[in-house]
This record gives sequence, structure tokens and C-alpha cells, in this order.
Amino acid sequence: MATSNNPDRRTTSPNGHSGTAPIAAVVFDAYGTLFDVHSVASLAEQLFPGKGDALSQLWRQKQLEYSWLRTLSDRYRPFRDITRDALRFAAARLMLPLGPESESRLMNQYASLSAFPENLSALRALKAAGLPLGVLSNGDRAMLEVSVRSAGMTGLFDHLLSSESVAAFKTVERVYALAPHAFGLRAREILFVSSNCWDAIGAHWYGYTTFWVNRSGAPLECLDATPDHTGSLLTDVLAVARA
Ligand code: LAC
Repeated sequence: MATSNNPDRRTTSPNGHSGTAPIAAVVFDAYGTLFDVHSVASLAEQLFPGKGDALSQLWRQKQLEYSWLRTLSDRYRPFRDITRDALRFAAARLMLPLGPESESRLMNQYASLSAFPENLSALRALKAAGLPLGVLSNGDRAMLEVSVRSAGMTGLFDHLLSSESVAAFKTVERVYALAPHAFGLRAREILFVSSNCWDAIGAHWYGYTTFWVNRSGAPLECLDATPDHTGSLLTDVLAVARA
């Protein structure tokens, strides 16, 4: 069930949007939100028994760290490259013998991550309600296209927006600016949905109406901001988007 954290959806964002705004489009983060980044853990476990979960967790954490570091220092590299670099670091840190074959198998797995079970039905219901949908992700465009196709989500999105087009990663403003520009809407009229709390907060800072899908009951990030809405499943977005 969704809860409204800021019932009047008021914002002090410089991107304009004080007061309420009806939702005119819904935009989703990809990794962790539409696709389960930890679905690689079973292959990781097969390759490195007893270490699959640790490798998957550290790989993801490093991938995010590298995205923030490279953006802070203006040293962008495509998401596929930082994902591979993060895998190499995580394996070295855990003292796992990652050869070219295991690396390539794990990287290929990343291209076809499992979608969370309720996602397809939630997306179809939103589409049936007449809402334009999009993806706004750090992922390279080619990675996003493959993941969307392999999850059976072809045709559901009006826009697949990759931060590759602005050579930077979230949470910089020029990444979040992609969706309002593509949809021709104010950020406040777009419901931005992410399972990554830091991403939902980055989008909130930018000026979106935000929904945090908190699947694991994680604590709120201590960043002096709260996403507008919180739920535990993607289907919880329906009540907010159609309100
Ligand atoms: C993305 C990362 C944040 O898809 O998961 O943008």
C-alpha cells in the first residue's frame, strides 16, 4: 500500500513547481526498480560458491560509487564500462579468481536481469490508464533496450532516456532534466519512481513528484528530504498515478 509522505506535494525546488500538480506521465528508474540487479547472485554463487551474495552486493555498491565519483570529477565512462570495472574491483576485494570467462558470463547476465514479478502487470495497468511511461536511467541506451526487450516490456515505454546522452550520472540535474524535456511536461507533473531511495531524493530535489518503492523495508536516507510517496511494490504506484 502506498503512503503519502507530503500530502500537499509541495516543493521548494528551483525547478518550479510549488503546490500540487496532476500526474501526467510516469517515469521509472531501471536498475533495482524495473530490473533486479541482484538476480545475478545465483550465477555468482554458481561461479564462486558461498560468495555469490557478497559479490552481487559489493558489485552494485561499487557500480554506484563509480557513477558518483566519475560524475563529481567529470570523468564519464559508459555505464557498461563502470559496471565491468566495479565487478573487477568487487572480485579483487573478495579475493575471487575472476577470469575473462566468468567476467563475460556475469556481464552478459547483467544484460538480461530478471524483472520484479509484479512489474509487468503494474506497467500494463498504468499504460491502460492512458498514462505515458518512460525509463530514465544511468544505463547505456543499448543496455536499456536489451533489458526492456528481455523482460517482455517492449512497447510499454514512450521514452527510454539514458544518461549517456548527457555524459553524466544521477544525481546531476542534466540527467533528471531529460524526462521533462522529452515529455514536454513540468517535472512536478511527472511521477518519478525509484527503488533507490537516493535516486528518488535526487529526483525530488530536481522537482519531480516522487515515489520510493521500498521493497526491503530500508531506512530513509538521511538527506533532509523525503520522497512524496512510498510503497513496497510497483503496483502501489497505481493508486498515486491514477489519483
Ligand atoms: C539507474 C540506476 C540508478 O538505473 O539504478 O539509473
